[in-house]
Amino acid sequence: MSESKLYNMLEEDHANVKELLTKTVDNETDEHFQTIKEELEAHMKGEEKYFYPEIEDQEKVTLLEAYEEHNLVKLVLKQMDERKTKDDKWFAKANVLKDLIEHHVEEEEEDIFSIAQENLSSTQENKIAEEIEAVKSK
Ligand SMILES: [Fe+2]
Ligand SMILES: [Fe+2]
Repeated sequence: MSESKLYNMLEEDHANVKELLTKTVDNETDEHFQTIKEELEAHMKGEEKYFYPEIEDQEKVTLLEAYEEHNLVKLVLKQMDERKTKDDKWFAKANVLKDLIEHHVEEEEEDIFSIAQENLSSTQENKIAEEIEAVKSK
């Protein structure tokens, strides 16, 4: 059940992006920003299009909150992308993004994944994993 590649794949993405955000903040570097942005955008798009809708009926409130967190992540990414100078304000945004992601990932892995594991068959999980992978490889 929890061995599904869907959760492993999403958890790997989470760990990867968290590591890049930590490097960004700790080393005060913007060198990982494009990777962070592209990976997060594809990951969130995949979840919104193929994962969240499959469990929305079970836990509407939790899911609505997750969508709103995605919206905030997109907003901060856009502001960071548009800001030409990587000054203190840019790194303040990077810090906020890191907090947002850490919070969102924790809720996703603890709450949303459990709901999904209780409600989805392994066939469904594998189908979602393939669909998200297709979005990411575009
Ligand atoms: Fe996620
Ligand atoms: Fe998410």
